[in-house]
Amino acid sequence: MVAHRSSTADPSMSATGSKSASAETALALWHAATAAAKPPDGVTVRPMKPSDIGAIAAIMQESFNNQAYTTERMTRMIEDCGLNGFVAVHDEKPVALVLYVHWDRALYVAEMATQDGWRGRGVGSALMRTMVELCRLEGWDGMWLHTWRHNLDGQKFYLAHGFEIFGLEPNAYGPREGDDAYVMVWGERFWQDVRARFETYLELWRCQA
Ligand SMILES: CC(C)(COP(=O)(O)OP(=O)(O)OC[C@H]1O[C@@H](n2cnc3c(N)ncnc32)[C@H](O)[C@@H]1OP(=O)(O)O)[C@@H](O)C(=O)NCCC(=O)NCCS
Repeated sequence: MVAHRSSTADPSMSATGSKSASAETALALWHAATAAAKPPDGVTVRPMKPSDIGAIAAIMQESFNNQAYTTERMTRMIEDCGLNGFVAVHDEKPVALVLYVHWDRALYVAEMATQDGWRGRGVGSALMRTMVELCRLEGWDGMWLHTWRHNLDGQKFYLAHGFEIFGLEPNAYGPREGDDAYVMVWGERFWQDVRARFETYLELWRCQA
């Protein structure tokens, strides 16, 4: 989980609703990536839409026990940071989300959460399989993310999906005690790159956070 930076804005989040040819291509790839999701019965995975943000904010509030994740804040975060995302929906209502941003040659997973009551049923895994497929389709080297040091369940989930712990970043979320985060990395190509110049990644992250 994190606060964020810049990248290519999601064309489907465009205020004008207009789409360029490259945006259309991106959208087609995002839809193609969802073919790998294999969600549980009754759930589908699709690219997020502006109308999902209220539900996304509610899942974030509940998952991180933080009322500061209002619809307005999530809208700002998504627009300012150029976040893209996928949602898992049941009866067209989002029950889980993954938000990410293009980061150099990799994808940075900015937020991931499943609504309480839906956890442990394979929804998060469906979203992660979508991310893995997107990496392959778009040709990214890998993925990386931050997860709170104390979030052992989250770390277990990411480890199960092939992420490895790269290292601990002290005070990643701020100066308070307990704000340390593990940096987790997925993808052999990206792993080699991040090992070679990890400080560069952290510097970029810090100055754009
Ligand atoms: C981590 C999270 C996104 C996983 O989503 P999910 O829909 O529960 O994932 P799945 O059902 O596909 O996979 C469940 C696996 O995730 C792990 N897991 C993490 N938290 C869990 C929870 N509260 N309940 C059940 N499983 C959980 C387990 O390792 C489980 O593995 P298992 O099936 O072998 O027991 C979700 O549990 C969640 O929203 N947690 C709170 C928010 C959070 O920590 N987000 C990550 C921040 S970096």
